[in-house]
Parts: sequence; C-alpha cells; structure tokens
Amino acid sequence: MHTEFTSEDLAQLPALQPPTWGNLIPRFEYFIKSEHCKPIKIAENGEVVAIGTSILHGDTAWLACIITHPEHRKKGLGNAMTLSLISELDRAKYPTIYLDATEFGFPVYLKIGFELEELYLHFRREKPLLEHVISKQILPSEEKWKAGIFEVDKIVSGEERSGVLSDFLANAFVYVENAQVLGYYIPDWGDNPIMAVTNQAGLELMKLRNQTNDEARLPESNIAAIQFLKENGFTQFQTSRRMFLGTKRIWKADKIFNRISGQLG
Ligand SMILES: CC(C)(COP(=O)(O)OP(=O)(O)OC[C@H]1O[C@@H](n2cnc3c(N)ncnc32)[C@H](O)[C@@H]1OP(=O)(O)O)[C@@H](O)C(=O)NCCC(=O)NCCS
Repeated sequence: MHTEFTSEDLAQLPALQPPTWGNLIPRFEYFIKSEHCKPIKIAENGEVVAIGTSILHGDTAWLACIITHPEHRKKGLGNAMTLSLISELDRAKYPTIYLDATEFGFPVYLKIGFELEELYLHFRREKPLLEHVISKQILPSEEKWKAGIFEVDKIVSGEERSGVLSDFLANAFVYVENAQVLGYYIPDWGDNPIMAVTNQAGLELMKLRNQTNDEARLPESNIAAIQFLKENGFTQFQTSRRMFLGTKRIWKADKIFNRISGQLG
C-alpha cells in the first residue's frame, strides 16, 4: 500500500502542509537524500494522501512528519501510515521507536501501542529581550570538539545519533570547561537545540540562544531551564507529547535545554 517518497512527490507537499509547521519541502528533500531516513507515501489515483518518515540512529528510530491530506483524514490513513513506517523497521535492530505527538496524532499513536513518556512545553517570548553577558566558555565548534558533542548528545539522549548530527554541526557552538565539551547549541537546525550535561552549561547556552530566538521547546522535567524562560519573559502556549513504542530507555529529559525538533525530541 505504501511506496517510497521520491523527489517527484515534492511538488505535492504544499497540499499536505500543516499551516503552523515549517516548510515541508526542505525537510523531505533532506529525508530523501539522507541515508539515515526512509520517507514513504500512500497515494490514491496518483494523489499523495499521506506521508511520513523514519529517522534511524544507532539502535533507535524516530517517526516524523506523519501527515494525512486534510481532505482524507479520519479514514484510517494516519493509522496505516504509522503502521507502514513501523513495518519497514527491523525491530531487532531498533527495539525502541520514538515520536513527538501533536494533539491530532496522540490518539492515533496511543491506539497503536505507543506510551506517553514526557511532556514537551512550548514557550514564546512576550516581553522585551533581556541582554545577557555571553560566557567566554562558549566557543564556535571546530573539528576537535566533534567527539565531545557526540558524547554530550549520547549522555543526554541515551541514543547514538552521531550519523544525523554530523550533517548539522557546521555552525554549532560548544560550552567547554577544562578542554571538555559540556554542552552544545546548534543555531541553524530545527528548533535550535541545546543539550548539556550540566545546568550551568545549558543555562549559559540558553543566554546565547535567547538573543535570537523568541520561541523555546523543552521537556517539562527541565525545571532550571523553564525557570530561566519565565524569568526572561517567556509564556507557555502549547504542549506536545513524547511517546515510545517497545523497550523503555534511559535518557535525561532534564538536560535538554531545547529540543532538536518534533522529528527528534
Ligand atoms: C494526525 C493525523 C496524521 C491523523 O491522520 P488521520 O488519517 O486522520 O488518522 P486516522 O484516520 O487513522 O485516525 C484519526 C481518527 O479517525 C478515526 N477513524 C479512522 N478510520 C475512520 C473511519 N473509517 N471513519 C471514521 N473515523 C475513522 C480514528 O479512530 C481516529 O479517531 P480518534 O482521533 O478519535 O482516535 C492527521 O490529523 C494530520 O495530518 N494532522 C496534522 C499533522 C499532525 O499533527 N501530524 C501528527 C504529527 S505527530
């Protein structure tokens, strides 16, 4: 029923574009070309009616951009797309499957057996920017910090994501103490993520991110980061729900100072 999503299908994406999401075209261009992603579609009479992708890490997979054409909803296509994505995965290699569910998606995934793991809170700045002094321990990333970034990411996410991460490190920043990377911030990827192994590293990177970002999305367990946002004039406007299927894994929700995106938590 499902087939591979190819570059010929890109022209149909505007009809599926959710209004509040970022542009789907560059996202699917990346999914098509990345060896770590498997985008698929369901088509009816040549019309793409549902899309989605899996994103593969070392031994975990994420499902992302699951969308049914607005005129074809509530016919079981969201369910079929999610099951198709799961069926394409080798469950022995990927015993845990993650996703970050919207209000629309949550009931669909719950029925399939996904379990709620963590709430992500979405904030928007509603007061003027407070200027911060930027820590001298924050440096533009270089090749020599790459292994440190992967290590921080592994500790925080509990996943081996270096394959996908490698594609987005060109403009990253690191927080370094005693020649060791304690946190990273990527200003030009997704929701502009910050992962850090200490609160100090995470909060200092948040001060830098805060200079150019009016929105923030992070797990509700990160009390220190949420307090920082509130002190800096941010108000919560939305939530999303991180869910998992299969083996529960250890990861550090309180050390995500901003999620990567709805595609990767
Ligand atoms: C989330 C989304 C993909 C679901 O797609 P969908 O094709 O409507 O999903 P389904 O049809 O499988 O299920 C939706 C509902 O329709 C019901 N349904 C399924 N087949 C049906 C049928 N033949 N007749 C009536 N209802 C039906 C399902 O039981 C489900 O009901 P519930 O929400 O009360 O549990 C879609 O709403 C969407 O694209 N939303 C915008 C993007 C988005 O938020 N994506 C999720 C990202 S996490």
